[in-house]
Amino acid sequence: MSRAVAFGDAPDDWRTRAVDAIPGGCSTGSKRPIALYGTRAADPGVPSHYDRAEGCRVWSTDGRRFVDCGMALGAVGIGYADPAVTRAVQEAAAQGNVSSLPHRLEVEVAEALIEVIPSAEQVRFLRTGAEATAAAVRIARAVTGRERLIACGYFGWFDWSSDAVGVPASVREAVTWVPFNDVPALEAALDAGELPAAIIIEPLVHEVAGDAWLTAARRGADRVGAVLIFDEIKTAFRVRTGGVQALTGIVPDLSTIGKALANGYPLAAVVGRAAVMDAATQTWISSTAAAETTGLAAARAVLAWHDQVDVCGRMAASGAQLRTIIGAALVDAPWVGVCAEGPPVMWRLTADLPERLDALVAAAARHGILLKRGAYQFGAVAHDEAAFADIAQALPVVVDALRPELQRMGDP
Ligand SMILES: Cc1ncc(COP(=O)(O)O)c(C=O)c1O
Repeated sequence: MSRAVAFGDAPDDWRTRAVDAIPGGCSTGSKRPIALYGTRAADPGVPSHYDRAEGCRVWSTDGRRFVDCGMALGAVGIGYADPAVTRAVQEAAAQGNVSSLPHRLEVEVAEALIEVIPSAEQVRFLRTGAEATAAAVRIARAVTGRERLIACGYFGWFDWSSDAVGVPASVREAVTWVPFNDVPALEAALDAGELPAAIIIEPLVHEVAGDAWLTAARRGADRVGAVLIFDEIKTAFRVRTGGVQALTGIVPDLSTIGKALANGYPLAAVVGRAAVMDAATQTWISSTAAAETTGLAAARAVLAWHDQVDVCGRMAASGAQLRTIIGAALVDAPWVGVCAEGPPVMWRLTADLPERLDALVAAAARHGILLKRGAYQFGAVAHDEAAFADIAQALPVVVDALRPELQRMGDP
């Protein structure tokens, strides 16, 4: 039976087609129209889909070119279609990306990660961040024989860390959520209720966690016999190659890594102390595509980048430039009511009224700049002088265009 609509043969209204074919319009929550543009999701002129991305630029399906400040939710640290990464992936695909045997790349990349991540003595690969954090929690529960978790951060969409509709109450009840950087709250959670299997925290939420909180987590986990897990999906290969733990020297038992690890190819891992990681053999953590070679080859190319260049320094410098240029334009335009905040390497746009941010993001997109709404902006190695110049030229025009409308919303 032939399909009613052949590939490449249907109308170009990708937004309508996406909403018809895909619940919410996109399989990645943060790329749904509502997540990209909020109340401005239906505005004419905001791009919905892309055809091509290279360096720090994206070309939309209607042929417009954008400077990207969100870099695929931080999955891309070097740049889109980086030639070295692309070559590595093409070679891996041409050599047979899977077989009935594991590939030697799995061993080589595991060994390389053990060299660069302070907490890593062993490694298990997975495809996504949610899988990696679920695996870390499973290992912690297996090694301790306990169920309760103390958590702070975002860990992906899986049941264990979600309060979304459809998650059983019994699963949610196993997690005590604590506020970021709050030592007394963490200590109170440790002293209340059942002994925890793990403390699992993101070591950077809007800012790098203070030494006091990370130390309290390390000492608290040791005191009660829990596994300390740092979720470094966003921060490894970005804040430092070895993550926040390489910056602070406070080393967890397990860490999860992903995103910039493979410059946008799907690869994540749980890494950690061999004595804890060994519990992976006592439970069942496995996926058919876990060690598929294109992601591993991408990671090897990224590791080579980090060997040759101060990639994290370059990402921080790019992020700082982006924040300075955009932040200055926003300071000069107080009627917009949006601020640039956070560490240069991953910073955010904040507003008292979400509608102000929606208006800014939509207007910037109409003028060739992709800003991420409700999450971080990420500097990449590929952000260059031409991109900074484009932003510096566009932003004053964007904020001026918003003046009448946003002044009507009242003082920020
Ligand atoms: C800290 C952290 N952990 C886990 C995840 C989930 O990763 P993924 O979306 O690849 O499943 C994310 C995604 O943004 C994240 O930022």
